[in-house]
Amino acid sequence: MSRRIGLGAAPAGRGMSTLDALSVASEIFPLVKTGGLADVVGALPAALAVEGIRLRTLVPGYPPVTGALGGARVVHDFADLYGGPARLLAGEASGLDLLVLDAPHLFARAGNPYVASTGQDWPDNAFRFAALARVAADLGAGLLADWVPRILHAHDWQAGLAPAFLHYDALVRPGSRPRPGTILTVHNLAFQGQFPAALLGALGLPDSAFTTEGVEYFGSIGFLKAGLQFADRITTVSPTYALEIRGPEAGMGLDGLLRARAGALSGILNGLDVAVWDPATDPLLPARYDAASLAGRAANKAALQARFGLAADPAAPLFGVVSRLSWQKGLDLLLAAVPALLGAGAQLAVLGTGERALEAGFLAGAAAHPGRIGAVIGYNEGLAHLLQAGADALLVPSRFEPCGLTQLSALRYGAVPVVARVGGLADSVIDANEMALAAGVATGLQFAPVSLEMLELAIRRAVQLYRDPDVWQGMQRSGMAADVSWRLPAKHYAALYRDLAAATSPTPAAEPRA
Ligand code: ADP
Ligand code: GLC
Repeated sequence: MSRRIGLGAAPAGRGMSTLDALSVASEIFPLVKTGGLADVVGALPAALAVEGIRLRTLVPGYPPVTGALGGARVVHDFADLYGGPARLLAGEASGLDLLVLDAPHLFARAGNPYVASTGQDWPDNAFRFAALARVAADLGAGLLADWVPRILHAHDWQAGLAPAFLHYDALVRPGSRPRPGTILTVHNLAFQGQFPAALLGALGLPDSAFTTEGVEYFGSIGFLKAGLQFADRITTVSPTYALEIRGPEAGMGLDGLLRARAGALSGILNGLDVAVWDPATDPLLPARYDAASLAGRAANKAALQARFGLAADPAAPLFGVVSRLSWQKGLDLLLAAVPALLGAGAQLAVLGTGERALEAGFLAGAAAHPGRIGAVIGYNEGLAHLLQAGADALLVPSRFEPCGLTQLSALRYGAVPVVARVGGLADSVIDANEMALAAGVATGLQFAPVSLEMLELAIRRAVQLYRDPDVWQGMQRSGMAADVSWRLPAKHYAALYRDLAAATSPTPAAEPRA
């Protein structure tokens, strides 16, 4: 059994054994976030604690992380980690039990974790995230004598090399070190971490790794590909996306490998941190409410209209968007659907940041239709909460969506989600078809395929339903009653961890693993 240091007892259920696990990721809410990955990585430890899993998280020592770290201890020194000295710190921040890779030459930089202020990726991203994965693999192999995780859970390409390092290490030193069970969770197959083949040696990978069965990916080194190749189990963040990515379109070049590994691949729908997202207690809202006091939303709608420069019209159906502005999210289609939306008598409030053309497009829309369209370009947690609490409906017309979290907060806040029927959107919203309405179980609207015509139709259908307050409020209440918390997903992850731990030996094996 593995030992633990400095951790409070996890509130495991009666008779439940505890299990130590390491999560490794490039972002974590609330310290550093560019998208839903951070939300999930930040929520998993508390969610899994309920299931008796003690999850520590390894993250890069970006300035906001090292700055927030309380009572940090140096638990390991690296004389040279990809070009400079580094330290591994153990400490706590925002209630999270963290291992922080303090490598100033790699991570002590202001701004976005992946992109420099020039808009280009940091030129040394291969080394930055190889370092993260290298240290994760070392931790899994017993770097800290007094804490050896049974499970190494890697998230996305930034952690993708960790299972590969464990694999190649075991070839060099068979049976000499512990080997954790490894899981790779794909949050978005569009981000694959591809780097020049010439870096192979400098990254610490053997020449023999550059094969189709290794880390080679279309002539480059593929970090995500490596993780998919070598992880014991692969998960993605919804059951539907787990199916979609086995096909050529959503598979984005990796579908062949995913089909080959289909037996190890499953989908677990994300949860929402329902403590952060609770309209009854949310300190970021002008007015708090719950399903029994939906009228309380009116004050939030008024505040939202004021903040986005929309006409103070309580009866106008108000559609909201909270999103990265990117091709994935299908918001170019929404721009094209603006005439239809206005024609239906609706208002639109967009909060987002991303591609310049989309930012400019929504700002131009707001300028052309004052009082009807409002856009705030930027990242703003408070406004995201206000938008969910004040909008009548939330639009998510994504071309693909591994899970999506904004439709989950929309459900919880009574903003009826209008979503493309893809990925996690298909798995989390119950479309208002005739039978669902008759049964009183509809929570939103789905449309497919993802086209301008179908989006326009969905907008018109939503406005029609909105005009019938009984039907609309029924949908709001059904959505607010849906369990979007981590309760069920945590059970699925815990079962996966336990199953994998049972299948992999905690002590050094006599033979290298196949
Ligand atoms: P993705 O990770 O693909 O961007 P998700 O829906 O999984 O999409 O997660 C997005 C997260 O980021 C949600 O927590 C959402 O509220 C938040 N978010 C996105 N854009 C903004 C923004 N402009 N301001 C505040 N929060 C945002
Ligand atoms: C990615 C996906 C999004 C998912 C999030 C968290 O950013 O685009 O769909 O919800 O990861 O898993």
